Amino acid sequence: MRLLPLLVLLAVCWPARGTWDNCGGTCGLRPMASYYGMSRVVGGTSSHPGAWPWIVSIQNPWLAGVGHICGGSLISPQWVLTAAHCFVEARDIRTWRVVVGTTYLTQLGPESQVRGIRRLVAHQRYSNISQRNDIALLELDQPVQCGYYVQLACVPNAWLKVSELTDCYVSGWGSTHAKSGGSTAVLQEARVPLIDVNLCNSSQWYRGAVHTHNLCAGYPQGGIDTCQGDSGGPLVCKDKNADYFWLVGVTSWGKGYARAKRPGIYTSTQHFYDWILTQMGFRSAARASPTSGAWSHFLTASAPYQRPTPTQSGKFSSCPFPLGKLVEFFSRAQELLLFLKEKKA
Ligand code: ARG
Repeated sequence: MRLLPLLVLLAVCWPARGTWDNCGGTCGLRPMASYYGMSRVVGGTSSHPGAWPWIVSIQNPWLAGVGHICGGSLISPQWVLTAAHCFVEARDIRTWRVVVGTTYLTQLGPESQVRGIRRLVAHQRYSNISQRNDIALLELDQPVQCGYYVQLACVPNAWLKVSELTDCYVSGWGSTHAKSGGSTAVLQEARVPLIDVNLCNSSQWYRGAVHTHNLCAGYPQGGIDTCQGDSGGPLVCKDKNADYFWLVGVTSWGKGYARAKRPGIYTSTQHFYDWILTQMGFRSAARASPTSGAWSHFLTASAPYQRPTPTQSGKFSSCPFPLGKLVEFFSRAQELLLFLKEKKA
């Protein structure tokens, strides 16, 4: 009889404790940010350790220095979301590495975790010329462990009103000078407001070069922007009502760096939500477009994935945590509704 509560607890907790998710089914949380207190960053400044716990550094160890190539974001313990253009000149990415849980690239602390790359899934219709569909996924050779310095980013589905989010940030190890290349040792961050894509595409700005699946972020007068080496990294916005962050964009391109009327252009993750889940094996491939183009050899069947959902709890484990389960349930129900609606349309 005494066993009963234990069994119930086990039944509730088991699904969240599978091998595919050691992050408690949560995302978008910044455990260390609440420890430091939320500072309001205006310019590009060095980040506190653990400030952006989903950011990763993608590195080619054969290059000089640490070999930092691009940024990326953890969206599951074994998958990183990044930009397709990072791999255009890549030879053998099986020799590359992904560093998670660090702020300093030159001195990896005990919180950092290094993984190899099992597979690259770049968008089948990525164009090197127009930078259309500049999005890619990396499957790591082993899952990472979540903790104070490592958390998953939340990928928004169609329900999130991204344009209404006002508290948005970019982060990366890219160059801090508009002219010189190279990466910085300490992670940098900056607050960048979203800019309406129509304004961004107007005659004095980008003259129609921005795609409908892009986001624009920065300042009309320039000065603060992402730069070379920040590509693939996160553009995140705080949720309107709660203390977690949405991964709304992937750093893609820009004309020059930090110039007036030339803000940073980001790939909208919301727009590629279905693509992301399909590639990770969460959605049936029947709805995916047929494989073609230069990247097709990277595409194979993938392991099952359960999308993490944001919860307002600061805890990593959703167990025992019935509210987390409830949030998860409603989020799944919402997704099902959306799916049915899409099917009808
Ligand atoms: N494409 C550049 C890279 O490879 C960075 C893109 C951001 N550019 C900008 N002006 N915001 O790292």
